[in-house]
Amino acid sequence: MLRRLYKDQPASFAFTPANQAWAEAQITKYPEGRQQSAIIPLLWRAQEQEGWLTRPAIETVADMLGMAYIRALEVATFYFMFQLQPVGSVAHIQICGTTSCMICGAEDLIAVCREKIADKPFTLSADGKFSWEEVECLGACTNAPMAQIGKDYYEDLTAEGLAKMLDDMAAGKVPVPGPQNGRFAAEPLGGLTSLKDFDSGHTKYNASAQLATDIGDSIKRIDGTEVPLLTPWLKNRTSKPAAPAPKPEAPAPKPVAKQVEDAKAAAADVAEAEPELLTAARDGKADDLKKIKGVGPKLEQTLNELGFFHFDQIAKWTEAQIAWVDNRLKFKGRIQRDGWIDQATKLAAGEETEFSKRVDKGDVY
Ligand code: FES
Repeated sequence: MLRRLYKDQPASFAFTPANQAWAEAQITKYPEGRQQSAIIPLLWRAQEQEGWLTRPAIETVADMLGMAYIRALEVATFYFMFQLQPVGSVAHIQICGTTSCMICGAEDLIAVCREKIADKPFTLSADGKFSWEEVECLGACTNAPMAQIGKDYYEDLTAEGLAKMLDDMAAGKVPVPGPQNGRFAAEPLGGLTSLKDFDSGHTKYNASAQLATDIGDSIKRIDGTEVPLLTPWLKNRTSKPAAPAPKPEAPAPKPVAKQVEDAKAAAADVAEAEPELLTAARDGKADDLKKIKGVGPKLEQTLNELGFFHFDQIAKWTEAQIAWVDNRLKFKGRIQRDGWIDQATKLAAGEETEFSKRVDKGDVY
């Protein structure tokens, strides 16, 4: 299927403060130089915040991870979990149309979507509450036909059952995910033939449906008000292994969100002063500012537009000048957080950094 960016895009995107802190924490999951691995959770969070994945959101995430836009776009367009156009405000219905589901009635389910939502997939219903699409096998073939609605699977569906579920969801109810025909899980329709003393652990629904019901976010969008992501490597460690004792001389690292907060506060306290600006690169040859970790293509362009083309310019920034630059960047605090001055000082002296070596090798895009 051709997956392209939607024709109408918003002008900009910014994570909410709660989502920004969450995204920063996600990035710390990955070792130095592997921050791009956080792209899927960050894109997903952006989609949860906005409802669909906009171009400015993809570019913002790419900037946060120091990636070329095309790399982030490749991820966003590859995975069907990312919706590249507006979807229903209540739910986007993904009907499996592959063999098992097709044989068992997927076409009837699609007919319901056509009738109750919109004739064509990826089209909003008249009230804007629903949209639908046909997807490939979702791996629940034993419970065909099925659909993914929001974050959960609804299985053993019938046309009448799906129609009622849509009505219920439009009325603010959330049907219990899982089999809709009385089956507990994927056992034979006629009942168990083996493992008859199987004990479910006394949950009302099977493990997936029970967890989905307990969490309650089947069609609710994550908005940052949930229990925060546990980041035990930062501060919320609740289980083994225990954190190694810090060396006496090494202060415990601050949580990233706190570092960002502190950096923002520090930047806010300092009166700004304009650094040396150039109208063009000296001798027409700008340094590759992307060799500074934290500077992606978009940020390099912004720095060039501000009048910075060379490592030695950045290396000379004073605290007040950092505040000046910080106030002109979308995401304040990143200069201190990513250590631009130290990196630029080394690069201006002709030295390499671990990150610049990787850029030279082509490991970083
Ligand atoms: S064919 Fe529909 S879930 Fe596999």
